[in-house]
Amino acid sequence: MSTNIKAGNIIQPYFVIGGKHRKEKIKSFPGQYRFSVDTLIDDIGTLKALGINKVLLFGIPDSKDKYGSAAYEKDNVVSLAVKRIKQRFPGVTVFSDICLCAYTDHGHCGVLKSARTQDTRDKTQESFIDNKATLEALAKMAVAHAEAGADYVAPSAMAKGQVRAIRKALDKNGYRETKIMGYSAKFASNFYWPFRNAAGSSPKFGDRSSYQLDYASAEAALREIQDDIEEGADIVMVKPALAYLDIIYRAKQKFGFPLAAYNVSGEYALLKNGLKDAGNKEKKGVLLEILAAINRAGADYIITYHAKEIAKWLTTKI
Ligand code: PBG
Repeated sequence: MSTNIKAGNIIQPYFVIGGKHRKEKIKSFPGQYRFSVDTLIDDIGTLKALGINKVLLFGIPDSKDKYGSAAYEKDNVVSLAVKRIKQRFPGVTVFSDICLCAYTDHGHCGVLKSARTQDTRDKTQESFIDNKATLEALAKMAVAHAEAGADYVAPSAMAKGQVRAIRKALDKNGYRETKIMGYSAKFASNFYWPFRNAAGSSPKFGDRSSYQLDYASAEAALREIQDDIEEGADIVMVKPALAYLDIIYRAKQKFGFPLAAYNVSGEYALLKNGLKDAGNKEKKGVLLEILAAINRAGADYIITYHAKEIAKWLTTKI
């Protein structure tokens, strides 16, 4: 059997931190690390040698505040990483995540309505996010990454109108060429725990159900995808992937638009742990079958932490 997935359609996510010579293990996230820019460059060198040339960057700042201001400050960790990657490997396509959750001290994806005035502990679920202030912050972050040389900015805060606001800010600042990958259908999923350990981004109160999608509803997901296309996205995304193959399929059938699927951290950890005692042949078989399913459902791009381990198999027949 063979697979239609090509190494060129695979995107490896990376967590970037400040400092030097750092490569930190992450709790419940086997085989993934937080890299400082220098060790990140080495790792991308390895990835590239395996034939994968697309990366998605998440920044983890040294300090967090209620506005998430480290996300767009000068020399923020992602901008530094993008610059170095583009100098060293101009052919690598860089996607940068645009969201505040790793930068805010409360762990939510946007600025809170109360952020200017009071503490935030007893907010109710209804619209505690200040959408306007969040859009302004996301736009600043996107412009900073575009200035550093990012090919795609990837808004994942699920703030209303985020793609339109970012497109407008990019154009206004002279970054018409910078593209947008919208995390269009992002579900309030239980599969994000290793990522939240990596980024220290668990919400300190409440959850994300007021801005991420209800996993029982397909219609809302399709509407979000349509909105992102209308707002100017170049690629739309469904996230997670494995429990959402129906959404991937429907999105592709309905819109015929470039589509990415995010095979998220919890999906990765389950497989990685489950395959610990399997032989190489079994591992290879299972991972390729799973990625083929995501591709068959309709994803053009697959964002996956399995990137390195599957790369060497993608060009050969099983
Ligand atoms: C939030 C964000 C999340 C992921 C990427 N960006 C999850 C969340 O905390 O809502 C998860 C990705 C993964 O689990 O691999 N902006």
